[in-house]
Amino acid sequence: MKAPITVSVTGAAGQIGYALLFRIASGALFGPDQPVNLRLIEIEPGMPALKGVVMELDDCAFPLLREVVPTSDLNEGFRGTNWALLVGSVPRKAGMERADLLGINGKIFTGQGQAIAKNAASDVRTLVVGNPCNTNALICAANADGVSKDRFFAMTRLDENRAKSQLAQKSGAHHSDVTNLCIWGNHSATQYPDFTNAKIGGKPVTDVISDEEWLKGDFIKTVQQRGAAIIAARGASSAASAANAAIDTVVSLVNPTPAGDWHSVAVYSDGSHYGIAKGIMASMPIRTLTNGTWEVVEGVPVNDFSQGKIDATIGELLEEREAVKDLIPA
Ligand code: NAI
Repeated sequence: MKAPITVSVTGAAGQIGYALLFRIASGALFGPDQPVNLRLIEIEPGMPALKGVVMELDDCAFPLLREVVPTSDLNEGFRGTNWALLVGSVPRKAGMERADLLGINGKIFTGQGQAIAKNAASDVRTLVVGNPCNTNALICAANADGVSKDRFFAMTRLDENRAKSQLAQKSGAHHSDVTNLCIWGNHSATQYPDFTNAKIGGKPVTDVISDEEWLKGDFIKTVQQRGAAIIAARGASSAASAANAAIDTVVSLVNPTPAGDWHSVAVYSDGSHYGIAKGIMASMPIRTLTNGTWEVVEGVPVNDFSQGKIDATIGELLEEREAVKDLIPA
């Protein structure tokens, strides 16, 4: 039997947590012969609900699940962790400015970055889901002294999956036939789902879908606004699809990317790709290599339309960074 992989999840008693933990415990991240430990982190008010979640995990008797540790102590929660999935954050409330939200959540991710640096395994990788996830991930990475910045990610995979689904529905293809779909920039309403390089059944999307007005208009808007549409329909924000995207992200980061394809995740920009500024977490086309490291896919064509969209979303990330600059050590 292999040694267990330890996964820490913050916000574990929340709605994404509830859709995520049972899939991790059943082997969705690392396959059917890889045991896992779960370290589940909540703030004090969330601990009673978390107790109930742990009781349900017990009652599933998952063969792959070894240890489950529920805690509100960050040191305990990140001890020995190989994968930190940072889901918990404070939602935006009525009257709250974006800068307030950035500041409140930023403080959470300062402490979590420090605790990851102090307690996690040397191969730790961190995926931030809690919003505003790109800038939260930047704060976390900046405060995790000694942990390489290429080990931090922010989730844009839900946006990629949403975009693939929209293109499949429009063309009548199956969503698994849609490849090379990159989300550029921020996980927010400025994100750019790049249809110009996406393919359906190996053909350029623009050859399969001739309705350019739809691609440049409703398609992009639908993907950008999908989160709000789910809230309007369900009365609660996307949870199962968000948990699913978190699983897809980790699976894509631990397995080699199929030849010629890429996946979307926000990574720390070192300033050397596509003119994107250094020192922000920006979503780009990413390929995972056979040794488990990743690289930015080079040479993806960026036309004038795409460049305008990418500039807008990168501009927003720079503004967010400016709003939390006090939380980012030089
Ligand atoms: P939720 O409100 O149901 O659960 C959040 C949980 O986090 C709560 O149980 C809360 O007690 C906990 N929490 C708050 N602060 C914490 C802290 N400092 N440490 C540990 N736990 C903490 O929210 P839900 O629906 O599970 O969403 C979680 C986050 O994921 C939200 O920020 C949401 O905006 C974001 N999200 C991100 C998506 C993406 O694509 N990146 C998609 C959907 C949601």
